[in-house]
Amino acid sequence: MLEQEAWLAGLPAPLREALAGCAEGVLPANVAAMHLLSASSEAALERAIAAVEVGLASALLGGAARARLEELRRLIDEHPAARELVSAVLAEAAEHGAAMGGGGVAYWARAFDRAAKASAEASVALYSLGDPALLNAATAEVFDCLRGWGLLKGGRVVLDIGCGIGRVAKLVSPDVGIVVGIDISRRMLAVALERCAGLSNVLLVQTSGRDLAAFPDRAFDLILAVDVFPYLTSVGLGLVEVHVAEAARLLRPGGDLVVLNVSYRGNPESDRADMASFAARHGLTVLRSGERPFRFWDGLAFQLHRPV
Ligand SMILES: C[S@@+](CC[C@H](N)C(=O)[O-])C[C@H]1O[C@@H](n2cnc3c(N)ncnc32)[C@H](O)[C@@H]1O
Repeated sequence: MLEQEAWLAGLPAPLREALAGCAEGVLPANVAAMHLLSASSEAALERAIAAVEVGLASALLGGAARARLEELRRLIDEHPAARELVSAVLAEAAEHGAAMGGGGVAYWARAFDRAAKASAEASVALYSLGDPALLNAATAEVFDCLRGWGLLKGGRVVLDIGCGIGRVAKLVSPDVGIVVGIDISRRMLAVALERCAGLSNVLLVQTSGRDLAAFPDRAFDLILAVDVFPYLTSVGLGLVEVHVAEAARLLRPGGDLVVLNVSYRGNPESDRADMASFAARHGLTVLRSGERPFRFWDGLAFQLHRPV
């Protein structure tokens, strides 16, 4: 361990990595807070919070690192219910996974049904700590990115795979022609229906999660998959490839597939390699390969383009 990391001594690896990442500025403070609040025991969480105090008092950390740790401490202080919420969402998924033998599409449909019940905000983004304002800020930067990349244009037809509670569909809907949101979880879609009520250009549909067979060739200009591919990856890389192949079929020439996060394997190089080989096999060009464009989220961005 480096001398500068002495304040992290004795912490379990995931908590040490979260705090080091936060201090270095590579992990947003709210994402680091989520990792701390996911600690497996109260004792581990207390040790991590104590380490933050040691870090803040340490002369070895520079001003920027201390400011990031202060933000982390403030987020934890300001969200006293977040520990229970994060634990509840994780426990629902784990308990259900054990009961189902874990792993398949049906498992995730039920896990998200249950997560939606615990907290709509946390169910799509645990790093929101259940705070609608934090989730709105994270959603706004996804929107800003898509707009900045020139992907939101009047008249475009958009497919939002794994739309969850409809936060992205709602935000992009005024800037495009039609948004079709699909999801495997009935309860997530019920929340999305409420959120998008009155938006005449948003359609929400429950699908099998095994393919995109419900849609005809060349139906879409833009296909989004915001933090949903990790669940496909957990079922198997074959399911990811099916979705990339289906996206290539569904996109009009000149259209784009944007995938924000491919997996939770913690190995961006594997994600980049997998997406590159799927893109090559299905005639798509990789325009972005695992960039980190966000301030409130450590999601990796991929953009696969269907050439004209
Ligand atoms: C972390 S949430 C993200 C939701 C939404 N994209 C967002 O960012 O707010 C993941 C969503 O993917 C959905 N999902 C998981 N596997 C899926 C699959 N095979 N096909 C479609 N949706 C899926 C879940 O039900 C859940 O709503």
